[in-house]
Amino acid sequence: MALTLTIMAPDDAHLHLRDGASLLYTVAASAQSFKRAVVMPNLVPPITSVDAAGAYRDRILQALPQGTSFTPLMTLYLTDQTTPETIDTVAASGFVRAIKLYPAGATTNAHAGVTQLERLMPVLERMTYHQIPLLMHGEVTDPLVDIFDREAVFIERVLAPLRGVLPELPMVLEHITTADAVAFCRAQSGRFAATVTPQHLLYQRNDMLVGGIRPHLYCLPILKRRHDQEALVQAVVSGDSRFFLGTDSAPHARHSKEAACGCAGVFNAPVAMEVYAHVFEEQNALDRLENFSSRFAADFYQMPHNTDTLTLIREPWVVPEQMSYGTQGSLIPLLAGQQLNWKVHHG
Ligand code: DOR
Ligand code: ZN
Repeated sequence: MALTLTIMAPDDAHLHLRDGASLLYTVAASAQSFKRAVVMPNLVPPITSVDAAGAYRDRILQALPQGTSFTPLMTLYLTDQTTPETIDTVAASGFVRAIKLYPAGATTNAHAGVTQLERLMPVLERMTYHQIPLLMHGEVTDPLVDIFDREAVFIERVLAPLRGVLPELPMVLEHITTADAVAFCRAQSGRFAATVTPQHLLYQRNDMLVGGIRPHLYCLPILKRRHDQEALVQAVVSGDSRFFLGTDSAPHARHSKEAACGCAGVFNAPVAMEVYAHVFEEQNALDRLENFSSRFAADFYQMPHNTDTLTLIREPWVVPEQMSYGTQGSLIPLLAGQQLNWKVHHG
């Protein structure tokens, strides 16, 4: 009989679902494995009000396949125009859980992001008052800073000073990619955490760039060195509650990835739980997967744990080469055409 692993149903603490017709494909892919997800607001235009977040939430729920249960946890996009009053409406909403900081221009649909964080101190203070988490795309956009250094420089120039001024502001450093980020996170106390993606646990920049460029591994923050990858793996398997699951699954149609100027983002939702299981198994830490996938984010966000379960079966399967993205063409999932040893059991 195949080996099985049954865990409390997981949550994805960082997810891009896009909008419109895309939702039919993205929501179904995530709902197969995850019960709840923190949904990113980088739409065009960005989600900047509780009303817009509510309407987006309704569209996500409408796209949910019949018989599946999946709760989108909404976020607002921080801009130079965000006011403390907006934060009061978030606190009163009951369904907007966090505010996302994109430094202006840092990544996909980040042009409306923040240009000078210092100017938003009244907003950040109000978030501290209401204990609303600030989720950070932790990269500086200074053109003089090398793309491989942008996370470490963000920590030094932006994050460490902000943490010094507002130590009580709950924060999540999203999709960490470096040993520097792991070390910073380990040194924090209080409500501070980091999410870690499947691709940053599986790969280093050589995998993307040696022997040919692999656009489907290109995401931001970009893959780093082997040393960084190893630090991330050790962080997640260590059982430290400050590191939890956030896939950053970020679909882009195949033609916009395989292009002269390809988009950043890895569509990993169809394989995410399987990849995390693989990484934990390789480190002999399968007994710690459930905390990472299903407890730590819920605890950070002060939500109850999920009551149902997810079963993974140790059974080799081959990831589809591509998946439909409706009129937008196709999506190439992480590990397309490759074998995985774990499979989420459906039904
Ligand atoms: O690679 C990325 N893609 N990084 C991000 O921060 C955003 C995301 C997207 O929305 O495509
Ligand atoms: Zn993201």
